[in-house]
Amino acid sequence: LFGHVEPAPKDPILGVTEAFLADTSPDKINVGVGAYRDDNGKPLVLECVREAERRIAGNLNMEYLPMGGSIKTIEESLKLAYGENSEFIKDKKIAAVQALSGTGACRLFADFQKRFLPDSQIYIPTPTWANHHNIWRDAQVPQNKFTYYHAESRGLDFAGLMSDIKKAPNGSFFLLHACAHNPTGVDPTEEQWREISQLFKEKKHFPFFDMAYQGFASGDPERDAKAIRIFLEDGHQIGCAQSYAKNMGLYGQRVGCLSILCEDEKQAVAVKSQLQQIARPMYSNPPVHGALVVSIILNDPDLKSLWLKEVKGMADRIIGMRKALKENLEKIGSPLSWEHVTNQIGMFCYSGMTPEQVDRITNEFHIYMTRNGRISMAGVTSGNVAYLANAIHEVTKP
Ligand code: LMR
Repeated sequence: LFGHVEPAPKDPILGVTEAFLADTSPDKINVGVGAYRDDNGKPLVLECVREAERRIAGNLNMEYLPMGGSIKTIEESLKLAYGENSEFIKDKKIAAVQALSGTGACRLFADFQKRFLPDSQIYIPTPTWANHHNIWRDAQVPQNKFTYYHAESRGLDFAGLMSDIKKAPNGSFFLLHACAHNPTGVDPTEEQWREISQLFKEKKHFPFFDMAYQGFASGDPERDAKAIRIFLEDGHQIGCAQSYAKNMGLYGQRVGCLSILCEDEKQAVAVKSQLQQIARPMYSNPPVHGALVVSIILNDPDLKSLWLKEVKGMADRIIGMRKALKENLEKIGSPLSWEHVTNQIGMFCYSGMTPEQVDRITNEFHIYMTRNGRISMAGVTSGNVAYLANAIHEVTKP
């Protein structure tokens, strides 16, 4: 019956973790998946999360959430994305549901797009997170690419980006990374975001923001929502996928939020009901535990400030590791420029290493990373940075 089923290709990111786990070398390092590690290389559970869990234990039940998820978690998520005093929240113009983290939020949106705008396509940046392609592919929404990264400067190709936005037919859907672009670590400046927003306005494009790293770009979630706020000020309707995987360290809990800013409350009610309708046959309603953790933390001023401190702590450790990696590469005499290691932001360094160099660093040094040369800086520690720098130097030296 299933004889014709061929093994699926390995996932370019999660497949790296599988290979890492299978390696028995004591030197092995995983800088593949974007998952935060402390300076001892261990997964970190935030103190605010531990405290929220203590409050949950014994006090709350585990009943089903509504199809759209926890109302409190959604309310707090909207404040993070749209602003504490957002008029759109007050006017109830936002249709929002709890989602299975960022992936689930993107997928719900893609399915919604296919169902209600069946002829629309999605413009996706080059490069982007590998799973974005899978998400819109499985939702059967045709994909187009737009220019984003400039390989020579290891920065943004702003001219190319603007030109592709201009070339797209009016009213196109664009996937934008709200901050800490994955995999490049390259974001537009505030001024560039303003220009992008203006051009979107002229072209009547719809921006869909994937905000998986709010807090990891600047260390401050409020500042990291700047791009979204600029689009809101300019009067766009937007969509937004939020994730608590990275900024609350709730990876396996799968908590996130999908929101769509509508024209009025009536439209928002209709859109939300349809999002729930898409969720119901897939998973009925989202999981409760992580959603409780999020709503407890964001509803309590003390826990919220502890969270903000802990997010900044994670972002700062990564910035420290960027400096250390660059310094180590310079110290051992790499003749190449490593300015981009400290110029790029967020969880990733888009190193410029070729797939062949990545294969060598894995085979010879037991260092695991994606073949596009992306290094998850969150996996770099004071203990392994010198070993990593030496290995990068060995495989990249001319
Ligand atoms: C990553 O890019 O490494 C993360 O977003 C984890 C994932 O699911 O791919």
